[in-house]
Amino acid sequence: MSRKRVAVLISGRGSNMAALIEAAKNKSYPADIALVLSNKSDAGGLITARANGITTEVVDHAPFGKDRAAFDAAMQAVLEKHGIDLVCLAGFMRLLSPGFTGHWQNRMLNIHPALLPAFKGLDTHRRALQAGAAVHGATVHFVVPEMDAGPTIMQGAVAVHATDSEDALGQRVLAVEHQIYPAALRLVAEDRVRVVDGRCLIDGVPVPDSSALLPSG
Ligand code: GRF
Repeated sequence: MSRKRVAVLISGRGSNMAALIEAAKNKSYPADIALVLSNKSDAGGLITARANGITTEVVDHAPFGKDRAAFDAAMQAVLEKHGIDLVCLAGFMRLLSPGFTGHWQNRMLNIHPALLPAFKGLDTHRRALQAGAAVHGATVHFVVPEMDAGPTIMQGAVAVHATDSEDALGQRVLAVEHQIYPAALRLVAEDRVRVVDGRCLIDGVPVPDSSALLPSG
């Protein structure tokens, strides 16, 4: 099977992007990071990508103002120019239009630093600590128009320690992110993930609900 051509979309430091690039260095990995696309020309991840010989592009959202559809169309043109098969959002801090998410339905992944559907949005680690969560983690999911929703492909959990600071918890979750994103992309690139009734099946088996990761009793 030929390797899928993947674009990673970033806005910042790009540590998840770097994890995907590392995984794809292995010739047996089913995806090739063909492009890193940023909406910010000063995103630190662009330097990492270029240092790894990955093609980069910048589409600045600012000139498009509130016209999300026009910005998304500009990104779409770049993705088509590079013959992209799959898109991975990795700290990409723009909301996407329904037209764009619809075009990439079940072909665009995102990583979120919480066990969705818990803690959608920002500041997930602080909110997990405030809520007294015993278990926290990260989720890779397909992107749908609603933010931080969409069928879960893979989750990874960490225990929350009584002594945890937001930063310490975030670092442990980030380490899990760097494991599950390449693993989830592998499954998708190998065509082993199907979405049925809004839920992912992997090799025909439904992905367990996040409640399976929580302590019982
Ligand atoms: C990660 O925590 C990711 O889950 C979230 O944004 C952060 C991006 O970090 N969507 P990085 O740029 O991948 O280091």
